[in-house]
Amino acid sequence: MKQIVIHFLVVLGFHYGKSYVAPVLSVCSRNDPNLEKCIMNAVEKIRQNVIDANYGDGRKAPRFDPMYIDRMEINNGAGFRLVLTNVTIKGTGGFINKKIRPDLAGKKFDIVSVLPKMTIIGKYDLNMQILLLNAVGKGDFRLQLTPVLEVCSRDDPNLGECIMKVVDKIRPNIANGDYGGGRTAPKLDPFAIDKVDIDHGPSFRAKLRNVTIDGFSKFVLKKVRSDLPNQRFLISATVPSCFVKGKYELNMNILLLKINGKGDFNLTLDNTQVNMMIQYYLEPKGDKKFLKFRPVELKIKFDKARFYLKNLFGGDPALEEIGNQAINANPHLLLDEVKPAIKEKLKESLTFISNSVVEGAEEDELLPRKKT
Ligand SMILES: *[C@@H]1O[C@H](CO)[C@@H](O)[C@H](O)[C@H]1NC(C)=O
Ligand SMILES: *[C@@H]1O[C@H](CO)[C@@H](O)[C@H](O)[C@H]1NC(C)=O
Ligand SMILES: *[C@@H]1O[C@H](CO)[C@@H](O)[C@H](O)[C@H]1NC(C)=O
Repeated sequence: MKQIVIHFLVVLGFHYGKSYVAPVLSVCSRNDPNLEKCIMNAVEKIRQNVIDANYGDGRKAPRFDPMYIDRMEINNGAGFRLVLTNVTIKGTGGFINKKIRPDLAGKKFDIVSVLPKMTIIGKYDLNMQILLLNAVGKGDFRLQLTPVLEVCSRDDPNLGECIMKVVDKIRPNIANGDYGGGRTAPKLDPFAIDKVDIDHGPSFRAKLRNVTIDGFSKFVLKKVRSDLPNQRFLISATVPSCFVKGKYELNMNILLLKINGKGDFNLTLDNTQVNMMIQYYLEPKGDKKFLKFRPVELKIKFDKARFYLKNLFGGDPALEEIGNQAINANPHLLLDEVKPAIKEKLKESLTFISNSVVEGAEEDELLPRKKT
């Protein structure tokens, strides 16, 4: 559930000044030591009146929920300008008051409310540097308060660090593959690989099925280097720990041992190093040029690895243990065989994910030049 905090007085004071304040003040004494609590209770009591904008005695105000606003403009003078017209806001009646600070001397109340869910429908004309994932431009919109992607200036001397912060912010979206507004990409965590088939003849054959990898989203970015003249970014990260599990079928020779088995397996990988090169290009569409990423180039270096293959040699416990020991004496022999498949799948997903994050955005929106 998304939450936003707004300063309610702005809205109430503007539209509902008199009719709203009157009933509230009639029930609370200004000398009440719990004035704040009293007002909160009073607001609860008149919630329905506020929603319907019917205050009895024929006193009416514009409806509060849904609320209709012909035109509103938000301009912070720092690269953000949003004009909304024909706006319907639903859900405002569900407000929960968090705090009321009466300032009787100043004849005002500071009210902080939380709206658990609010839908805004209308027409927009948007120009901003804090970018809603795909709400750039002009047209109809339906906003369910989607996650925001903050934007880094291409002139920022610490562009790499700015990008690292942005990536950290959208980490939950990357993990669950939900980019808001119904847009999805493959989940990064858990990461699923349906099947891997490797056949290098009698000395190595393996099949993996229903493989899931937990832990990729806990990546730690070590360095992001931008190379804008070549339209690319070089990223290095480590994944402190991930846990792989699934079904396997294996025939493999290690030294003099012929290992075979079929069943469940798991694998713990610690301190995996990932290096990525991600290059973008501009795709013209109409009078716009959208930013798109080419397939990500990826290098993976596994460090510590520990396999558990259940049911080796048909399940004989002593042989199973010997087989696992032989594999774990040099886990990279087996790991190197499955690595290309993991890499290929990961590369495909990372490319898709990168493009999902920037979908519908132009280069200057994502990497604006600094205003002078
Ligand atoms: C505003 O919304 C109303 C109701 O949805 C619609 O009838 C009207 O045409 C809209 N006006 C504009 C300018 O889009
Ligand atoms: C893999 O998962 C699918 C769906 O969960 C299931 O139908 C299938 O039997 C599984 N395959 C194996 C080999 O366990
Ligand atoms: C990994 O597999 C081994 C052998 O089947 C099992 O004993 C162990 O509990 C598994 N590890 C986890 C974390 O599931």
